Amino acid sequence: MLPESLRERIRPETKLVVITGAGISAESGVPTFRGEDGLWRRFRAEELATSWAFQRDPKLVWEWYDWRRGIISRAKPNPGHLAIAELERLLPNFYLITQNVDGLHRRAGNRKLVEIHGNLWFVRCTREGTVTENYEVPLKEIPPRCRCGALLRPHVVWFGESLDPDDLRRSLELVRNCDLLLVVGTSGVVQPVASFPWEAKERGAFVLEVNPQSTPISSVADLSLRGKAGEVLPKLVEEIREVLLRRHP
Ligand code: APR
Repeated sequence: MLPESLRERIRPETKLVVITGAGISAESGVPTFRGEDGLWRRFRAEELATSWAFQRDPKLVWEWYDWRRGIISRAKPNPGHLAIAELERLLPNFYLITQNVDGLHRRAGNRKLVEIHGNLWFVRCTREGTVTENYEVPLKEIPPRCRCGALLRPHVVWFGESLDPDDLRRSLELVRNCDLLLVVGTSGVVQPVASFPWEAKERGAFVLEVNPQSTPISSVADLSLRGKAGEVLPKLVEEIREVLLRRHP
């Protein structure tokens, strides 16, 4: 049951922004970065997802991506992803900002989204900068190369790299103007997305967190629903639908 302070924010014109992190895909079998299952071989994401690591050992970095692409290619959107796709259908002023590079939100049906850390089904030539789709799993050649002979890299944003300026501008504009910010499955430690809940809250938005664990975002959230996204979100969407129907039967 949602508190009245949240129910009163839910209207057909409500500007809803959803932010997601790796936790939304956990129930699809995609490992998170910082959980117990967050280590690959003996590495942490922060040791592999950097341009420095790629320069030093592109084969190692690509082996990690190849492993992740293999898992994701077998994964399916879970009830959490589907609930977020349903929110896009329910509310015209909906937008999704995801830090995930797995493409599962698109597969669930979301179209109004910013993939702020990129998408690992795209590769970029390190010489020409050209971006192409690539669904080869497993990769025939590791590290893969462009036709021009240069190395290809995943088209994702690594630690120490800047986000696409258009994606960042658009995301900040959305977050600063929303009525309701729903933050799902992120540990809230990677900037700039980690600061978005504060941006929204400062401008009067209701901040709602869905995460089985407490995070730094919990301190700014008006409400934290403790549970798995795949269990909490379908119920939340059902309640939102009921509130909307009651207002406009
Ligand atoms: N439902 C909801 N949340 C969950 C679930 C679940 N079933 N399972 C785990 N979580 C939560 C964890 O409690 C944790 O807070 O998901 C969060 C996952 O945190 P991280 O692994 O740190 O992932 P994320 O916040 O997305 O990381 C941000 O860091 O490595 C980089 O670029 C990468 O986009 C990533 C960024």
